[in-house]
Amino acid sequence: MSERATWATRVGFLVAAIGSAVGLGNIWQFPFKTASNGGAVFLVVYLVAVVGIGLPALLAEFVVGRKTKANAVDAFRKLGHPRWRVIGAFGAFIGFWIVSYYSVVGGWVGRYFIGSVTGGYFDAPGQYFGAIATGPEAILFHGLFMTATVTVVALGVNSGIERATKVMVPGIVVMMLGLAVWAATQSGAAAGYSYFLNPDFSTLLANAGDVVPFAVGQAFFTLSLGMAIMITYSSYVGEDTSLFVDGGVIVVMNTLIGVLAGLVVFPVLFANGIDPNTTKAEAIFVAMANAFSQVPGGRLLGMVFFGVVLIAALSSAISLMEVVVSYATDHSTVSRPRLAVLTGTVLFVMGLPSAWDTAWLGWFDTLAYKLFLPLSVLLLLLFVGWVLADEAVEQLLLGSDTGWLGPVWLWTVRTVVVLAVVATLALGLETLLLGGDIVPPV
Ligand code: TRP
Repeated sequence: MSERATWATRVGFLVAAIGSAVGLGNIWQFPFKTASNGGAVFLVVYLVAVVGIGLPALLAEFVVGRKTKANAVDAFRKLGHPRWRVIGAFGAFIGFWIVSYYSVVGGWVGRYFIGSVTGGYFDAPGQYFGAIATGPEAILFHGLFMTATVTVVALGVNSGIERATKVMVPGIVVMMLGLAVWAATQSGAAAGYSYFLNPDFSTLLANAGDVVPFAVGQAFFTLSLGMAIMITYSSYVGEDTSLFVDGGVIVVMNTLIGVLAGLVVFPVLFANGIDPNTTKAEAIFVAMANAFSQVPGGRLLGMVFFGVVLIAALSSAISLMEVVVSYATDHSTVSRPRLAVLTGTVLFVMGLPSAWDTAWLGWFDTLAYKLFLPLSVLLLLLFVGWVLADEAVEQLLLGSDTGWLGPVWLWTVRTVVVLAVVATLALGLETLLLGGDIVPPV
């Protein structure tokens, strides 16, 4: 066994974590969930959830990773609490669950990227989505996206991830900024900003049962929490690094890119006369494609937009798959490339229902948001807050000069954060069970 890899530079860890965090969750899911959950109100609840729940939970994952320097399942054994391994195993399961449909959406993005190059959607942007989103075409592109992910994971990501994301993340930021400037010139800009940024709290009171679980779920999803990714990535971090600072940078960057995506998408939605309250998964594809088909330089803009989303989606899918594959490599004699192909094949099959019919995609997504992610984060918080407790604080404070934050963090994790996640889970379960969302759409 060679010595365990560490990130070559501090920035290496930061960009890899940001690359995992920034993905379809920020650029596609966030604007569309914001739109279908009341606009700016959702943004407010989401921001509170990110800072109040997401950041403390992110730090909890960092503590487990850096303290044990092990993969997410063995980490708990190394800490002397083998039973809590279930957190790592559950995380790997959620990873499978999420990548299966994530890859289908990634396939759509790839298809739109090609459509921008060839001009394929320019004649009938409204019909394009319906033609490619389900059925054999969707399956083909789901397969291509999965193949790309498998290829990178099979090659071994240690130096790959770090090198690739160092280019990808700044690229995403620059291109999103450029697109936001362009969107500001669209006729729907004022209406879009107002919908996105002016909260109407009455919708919150009327729909808390939906808004809160989705906003908290979104915070977990977009920060890649509950799936042991951040445990894995932080296991390569040195003890001279302040986890507070790095966690803060990751959260700020991730939120910034989500908000930027909103500043791109909402003006375009309004300019295209799409009512955001009826927005569904496809609206963003349809609206963006429609806009690109009408403006000068639309092909180039389309390539940039869908290219950015594709890169962001790939870097996230890679991190999702890496957790599964890195655990499997540690526990079997089968080679990494073979394991990657095997995992990819299983995931491809699991994604078939979602590629066949978007009702399945929605079902997978809803269960992930309302049930699996909060449950997984809750278990982790209970473990770190109540079982590791002072050991966790000690680890968190290594490399940091803000010692007073340690106990504040611990008590927040133990009380407020745990209660908030329990409440979220309860609200989510209520709509799942009463609303019948738990029933698969056979
Ligand atoms: N964070 C990514 C996004 O916003 C998706 C993602 C990557 C993810 N890893 C994850 C979601 C782990 C949940 C758990 O698109």
